[in-house]
Amino acid sequence: MINIQKSKRSMKSNFNYDDFVFGVQPTDHILLCNYKDGSWQSPSIMPYADIKMSPMSLCLHYGQTVFEGMKAFRQDNGQVIIFRPDKHFRRFNASLERMCMPAVEQDLFIEGIKELVRLEEHWLPEEQEINLYIRPFMIATEPRLGVKVSDEYLFCIVCTPMGLYYSEPVRLKVETEFVRAAEGGVGYAKCGGNYGAAFYPAQQAKIQGYDQVIWTDAKTHEYIEEAGTMNIAIVIDDRLITPKLSTSILDGVTRSSIIQIAKDLGMIVEERKVQLQELIDEFQSGKKIEIFGVGTAAVISPVKCINILGTEYYPYTANDATMFKLKKQLNDIRKGRSSDKYNWNWFI
Ligand code: COI
Repeated sequence: MINIQKSKRSMKSNFNYDDFVFGVQPTDHILLCNYKDGSWQSPSIMPYADIKMSPMSLCLHYGQTVFEGMKAFRQDNGQVIIFRPDKHFRRFNASLERMCMPAVEQDLFIEGIKELVRLEEHWLPEEQEINLYIRPFMIATEPRLGVKVSDEYLFCIVCTPMGLYYSEPVRLKVETEFVRAAEGGVGYAKCGGNYGAAFYPAQQAKIQGYDQVIWTDAKTHEYIEEAGTMNIAIVIDDRLITPKLSTSILDGVTRSSIIQIAKDLGMIVEERKVQLQELIDEFQSGKKIEIFGVGTAAVISPVKCINILGTEYYPYTANDATMFKLKKQLNDIRKGRSSDKYNWNWFI
């Protein structure tokens, strides 16, 4: 049972849907639930406000934090759906386990999101291609400077309106010096440290004119893994190729959806190791190669330029590229224009 305290006024009246930066404007409410003495307390939905915590909270010092990112959409008939919250729920708990944090119950996670989105659905306009980005997260709140697994946690869910994360096709640099994640590490977990640790190499790439890096395996730097904000997919000769999941790659929900959609469209899907040399050879053969990022925020983001070992290559990004067919089908399912045969849409 969620205790709900509704906000008296909405911040939406001051929000400009035509000109905004992703992730700055919260919606009107936040879900909060504390974990103490070995169990979850009653969750509450409150008017959005800052959270008060001890400066000695363990999360601030040793990085016990985990988050998820998912989306709610308004369909053409006005109904609101949440996209694959069950898969996000499983990934959230897998990340929590890796970070020694307590699992959340499906009821708290999914009913909490549904209840929150019911209160915020007025942020989803009828016309514009705007969706609601939902950010569940958990932090270790026990006030203690000794290095230990926290005994206290706070689970929260906030939402923010979202348009396109990347408004333009991106330029990516394959990173062969720095490492994001090694086998046996936490690369597959959606924990805050994975992102913080990626900032420096990404910033260096930015200085060189790239939007992001594509990480390679930590041992040999010969195989591509994922980009900082999205998984990577490639189309060559009607084959969809994407790096096989491992302990150093995030099990992306959009990645999994695109794989299914590609199979349904009759494409051959190869989840396997992708060697840099293979990509270089394909580019040098003059073949049409599509490369794109896939992620909840990024959806499908075309890569217009990729720097591999110091040479820039230019993947195919014209309007008839296969990635746009995949993107359209994904969008059609979410918007209720195409049959949702895998029950990915959860109505609120
Ligand atoms: C997501 O796609 O949900 C992410 O976590 C990436 C982040 C850049 C917003």
